[in-house]
This record gives sequence, structure tokens and C-alpha cells, in this order.
Amino acid sequence: MGDVDDVLRQLRRHPDVEAPNLYAVDAADRLILDVAAEALATAEPGTVVVIGDHYGALTLGAIAGHDLREVRVHQDLLTGEVALANNARAVGSSDRYATHPLGSAALDGARVVLLRLPRALAGLAEIADAVARYAHPDVVVYAGARDKYLTKSMNDVLAQSFSEVRASRGRQKSRALLVFGSKPAGDPVFPVRDRLADLGLEVVAHGAAFSGARLDIGTRFLLEFSPQMKPDARDAIDLGCGTGILAVALATRRRSIRVVATDQSAAAVASARATAEANGVAGRVTVVRDDAMSCAADNSADLVLCNPPFHVGAAVHTGSAIKMFAAAGRVLRPGGELWTVYNSHLGYRALVERMVGRTEVMGRNRKFTVTRSVCGLRDRWQ
Ligand SMILES: C[S@@+](CC[C@H](N)C(=O)[O-])C[C@H]1O[C@@H](n2cnc3c(N)ncnc32)[C@H](O)[C@@H]1O
Repeated sequence: MGDVDDVLRQLRRHPDVEAPNLYAVDAADRLILDVAAEALATAEPGTVVVIGDHYGALTLGAIAGHDLREVRVHQDLLTGEVALANNARAVGSSDRYATHPLGSAALDGARVVLLRLPRALAGLAEIADAVARYAHPDVVVYAGARDKYLTKSMNDVLAQSFSEVRASRGRQKSRALLVFGSKPAGDPVFPVRDRLADLGLEVVAHGAAFSGARLDIGTRFLLEFSPQMKPDARDAIDLGCGTGILAVALATRRRSIRVVATDQSAAAVASARATAEANGVAGRVTVVRDDAMSCAADNSADLVLCNPPFHVGAAVHTGSAIKMFAAAGRVLRPGGELWTVYNSHLGYRALVERMVGRTEVMGRNRKFTVTRSVCGLRDRWQ
């Protein structure tokens, strides 16, 4: 442990994408820590909870600044969780915090919550509901974000679970919200469910899962090609599965295929598991929380489906897609296929060709392109 600035300077994003324009700590982290300083200074052990910390700035900054113990942490993304663990080891604070799923284990009796506001309003709604439901009634939430990601709708969402939302003064293009006065929690809203009549599927979605219980239009376009996707495939991977729509659609259409649905988001994994169960294919769809399927063996899959993200956190960056395509090139058997869909302006074709193998454009509409890449021994990306 050490001085807060000293600790924050040491933080790294790894294993998340690292690049000169991507940072492990930002002005919103520093503002949240400053605005909450008085509450943190007097907090009893076990009463501080951190939600949505990107890489550990909030957790490790609060521990360093206030000598905290028994801090509870919930992070949706596995890369954030691993980055926090790595950073905590580096600064000697590993024994000061523990990670928990979003729920009573994370929040029972909490008095101070530090929150990095998520971009998805449904994600924020599920967090706000959990805090109001499980934390001490006198809990105060210190929530913050960069100005460009703050919206008026966030106040409205917070106001569904709390009676007071006050904004701090802005600083370095960031702002904090002080949230308190938790309202009595009603029946849980999350996970939400919807029936996609045209696909004959029921989708279950936790708040932070991509696209909620709706079908993304890129995903819909990719699914149009499912009869052509390596018809003799014995096994498939839905890489970056979100609510698991691709995995579950494939499993319901092909009665003997086994599918692994994998995502780094805890909300996505919980949603995909529930979606597989709701559609009666949980026996053939295994759901795994992993960073770009790092646990999948080389040469172990016939088919990979991927609708990749084009954001890294909040920044538009191709790093995540590159990481996922490289993983597909590693995990596919020779002759195996990667099917992907992307916004046509991103022009990923050359990238997948390099990382997986011979790539054909199989379809293009006004917005999206669908490609098939066949993994070849000599084409394999190393
Ligand atoms: C565009 S969404 C697609 C979700 C779903 N397949 C669909 O089509 O509705 C991309 C997904 O990739 C996941 N993701 C991003 N980076 C990842 C990584 N490094 N490892 C695993 N999943 C990742 C996100 O959490 C998100 O669920």
C-alpha cells in the first residue's frame, strides 16, 4: 500500500486491451474518490462496496487512501476483475478486498458504495435495484462517469430506487452523483424475458447484457446464414455470447450439435445460461465466463460464431475484435469456420483473413457484412 497517487500511477489495464489512448485510471475515478473521501474516512470494516471498477482505481485508491479492510467488489467484466487482482498484487492490497456477484453477498449491510456508472441504463437499473434492496437503508452511493457518458436518463433510473440524486460540481470533464434515500424494493425486474416469435426463442437478459432481451439487428442478419454454417459441425462456440441467442438458436436448429457460449461479462453469462434453460437446450449449451475463450484448447472447435464488440469499454477501438478473431484462429480445427458480422464501415475482412484464413463475404445489407473464414493450416495466425 502507499500514497493514493502512487498506487493509481502503477495501475495497468492488462489483460484488457492496452494502447496509448486507453487508460487504467481517469478523472472520474479520482473525482469519485475525492467526493467520497469523508465517508470513506469513517467507514467501518466491511461496509464499503465498489461496483463497476474498471481496473482497480476505485478499490485500490480507496484502500490506499483510508486503510480500508474487507472491501467488497462487484465487476461485470472478467478482464476488470483480473486487472484488479493483478494491480492489487502489485501494490500489496490483495488481502483487503473480495469479489462477489451482484446481490446480497456483495451488498448486505453496505453503507458506502462507490460506483462507476455503466453506459447501459438497464445495467444501471439492476445495480440501483440491488443496492436499494440489500444495502443498509442509510447507504450513500457515490457514482461517477466522464461527462460524455452521463445522461439525464441516468438520474431517472437512479430515482426509481432512491429518493435523492444530487450532482457534484464537474471536474476535468467528469461528474459524480450522490445518491441516497433507498426506496423499498418491489418484485425484482431483472432478469427480463422476451419471446422472439420469428425465431421461436425465449431470451432472458440481465441488465448489463448486450441488447437486453431484444435481438440485435446484426445478430439477426448473421442468423439468416445459419443453414450454411458448416453443416457437418459437431461442436460450435458462440464467442462473446451476450444473452446466448446465437448459441441457443444453433442448438435448437441442430439437434446433435454441442455449443459453448462464452463471454467475459457476468451478466451475459447468467443471461445465456437462463436463455439456454428457457429453450430446453441447457444440456447441449455450456456457458463459460472467460476472456476471449482463453480456456478453450487449440484446434478444438468446428465452428465459431462471433458478433464482436467494436468498443473497448467506452472507446471505439478494434482491439477487442482483433483479440477475438485471433482466438478463433487458434481454437478452430483446420477446415473449421468462423462466421462473423460487423458494421460494413469497419472493413474487418482483411483482419479475419489474416487471423483465421480464407475469407468470403457471404452477405451484405445496408449496414452489416457477414463473412465466413475457413481455418487453414498454412493460413493459421500465430
Ligand atoms: C456485440 S455483443 C454480441 C452479443 C451476442 N453474441 C449477440 O449477438 O447478441 C459482443 C459481446 O462480446 C462480449 N465481449 C467483449 N469482449 C470480450 C472478451 N474479451 N471476451 C469475451 N467476451 C467479450 C461482450 O460482453 C458482448 O456480450
